[in-house]
Amino acid sequence: MNRPIIAPSILSADFSNMGKAIDDITASGAEWVHMDIMDGGFVPPITFGAKMAADLRVRTKLPFDVHLMTQTPQNLLNDFAAAGADYISFHTESVSRPLHVIRKIKQLGKKAGISIIPATPVSAISNILPFVDLVLVMTVNPGYGGQSCITECFTKVENLTRQRLERGINFLISVDGGINETTAKQAAAAGADVLVTGSAFFNAADKTAIVQKLRG
Ligand code: DX5
Ligand code: ZN
Repeated sequence: MNRPIIAPSILSADFSNMGKAIDDITASGAEWVHMDIMDGGFVPPITFGAKMAADLRVRTKLPFDVHLMTQTPQNLLNDFAAAGADYISFHTESVSRPLHVIRKIKQLGKKAGISIIPATPVSAISNILPFVDLVLVMTVNPGYGGQSCITECFTKVENLTRQRLERGINFLISVDGGINETTAKQAAAAGADVLVTGSAFFNAADKTAIVQKLRG
């Protein structure tokens, strides 16, 4: 088992102090910054757009892991690519032709990720697995931080880990939602490479310590 990548989600940060949130993530030793983009359509809340990412880009060298929870992800790709995103993930439930979107992300020189909500089985994305850099398995229903992890979703992580090996393909597996010290261990045991963490990270007084604990 490799050491997992820790990706704190700024959804749980104080939106009036985003620059400090990025500084805290960088200082903590976490590897990525996770950005939850919500449009008030695919999910009820609205968070922020590409300008936030662009303005934060100068504060850290850490990769930006952009998670689009939006109805028309294809409309946002140019702006997030220009803003300095490294990974751009979108939901298979939001588009009719996911390969089209994956191709566009790659044409922009970015890593492409596909995400599935808890109700979507891995079989829904089997055909596109050879073309993605990342699979983002949501372990809560998207829209809000601070929810409890739906641990049944870890069977999907196991399934993806198996398929990756058997089919000889390569992508990172990320888990997102309700990841804390306990569920991080379960996720890593199932084969997750990336652990997204919102409230566990931002509620922790000692952010270096929580990153180490989440790594297991
Ligand atoms: C939920 C978001 C998550 C969320 C995770 O829709 O995609 O990234 O911020 O937050 P926690 O860790 O609090 O569940
Ligand atoms: Zn997310």
